[in-house]
Amino acid sequence: MDASRPGAEPTAVKTEWAATAVRRQLAFSALRAVAPFKTGLLKWIGNKQRFAHRIASFFPAKIGAYREPFVGSGAVLATLAPQRGIASDCFHPLIEIWQTLSADPELLKLWYADRWLFLQDGEKVAQYEKIKAAYNTNPNGADLLFLCRSCYGGVVRFRQADGRMSTPCGIHDPIHPKSFSKRVDEWKLRTAGTQFLLLEYEEAMARAKPGDLIYCDPPYSNTQAILYGAQSFDLLDLFRVIEDCKSRGVYVALSIDGTKKSGKRKVDLPLPQGLFEREVFIDCGRSMLRRFQMDGQTLEQERVSDRLLLTYAA
Ligand SMILES: C[S@@+](CC[C@H](N)C(=O)[O-])C[C@H]1O[C@@H](n2cnc3c(N)ncnc32)[C@H](O)[C@@H]1O
Repeated sequence: MDASRPGAEPTAVKTEWAATAVRRQLAFSALRAVAPFKTGLLKWIGNKQRFAHRIASFFPAKIGAYREPFVGSGAVLATLAPQRGIASDCFHPLIEIWQTLSADPELLKLWYADRWLFLQDGEKVAQYEKIKAAYNTNPNGADLLFLCRSCYGGVVRFRQADGRMSTPCGIHDPIHPKSFSKRVDEWKLRTAGTQFLLLEYEEAMARAKPGDLIYCDPPYSNTQAILYGAQSFDLLDLFRVIEDCKSRGVYVALSIDGTKKSGKRKVDLPLPQGLFEREVFIDCGRSMLRRFQMDGQTLEQERVSDRLLLTYAA
């Protein structure tokens, strides 16, 4: 038999090949098993619900507190469902929603149901515009909750000139209050160990202790300029804060772009030398990883949907 032909190797060679494959697999594998959870509570730009479990699978297996300083719609938080979490955001009406979920979930259900009934009580677009006007007069969690579920494409956007919420009414019918209430119950359970705070990210990250894990999903000004806070956001400032966290023994995982792209595309951001140990490209169903400062291996042909930078190797 010709042992050089594929499929004709002697057993010993086959075994060695298999062992190499396993080692490689391990080197590229996730750090913990996280089950998917795809039922969102809010709709939000940059929402990671579809692949939050893949992101969370690259968090260290053992952590102190879980911290998410750009919590948005909380996809990764709820998917991970940490025993001890601190989730924050600098957008006041959004944090009002989360704090109400935590303190009084029945009130959250009522907020949604009231506005859902109001929408049925007249011409849909006109009713929606009234809710939007109420929000713009007095930005608040109750109106934002309903607007994010009923606006066009679930894209809550704000006008640069005056900061007013500007998204038109969606063409879909917002989910029934019964269905929303079920989601509230599920999300309440998953966030039971989490405290929600209104904080700038610098302050939130300064509070982290050694062994804590911070997941950062900041607004990315190139692709999310209409997102709250994105216009003034500077990634270089965030890198400095991450550097400080790393030096204090805090793990940091950073999503830096939510747009679809190929792993072949050139990195457009100058990443600080030595800050990140690993880069993971996450796709729906597939993921690939490159080790920095190690052997630099890549799987470059894959389409990816999210890019994750980790300050830790394992
Ligand atoms: C890309 S979104 C997060 C999306 C989230 N991962 C999800 O699944 O919905 C970014 C969030 O950062 C918040 N943000 C913007 N600037 C901030 C700042 N300086 N400090 C804290 N939060 C900020 C925004 O309000 C927004 O909710």
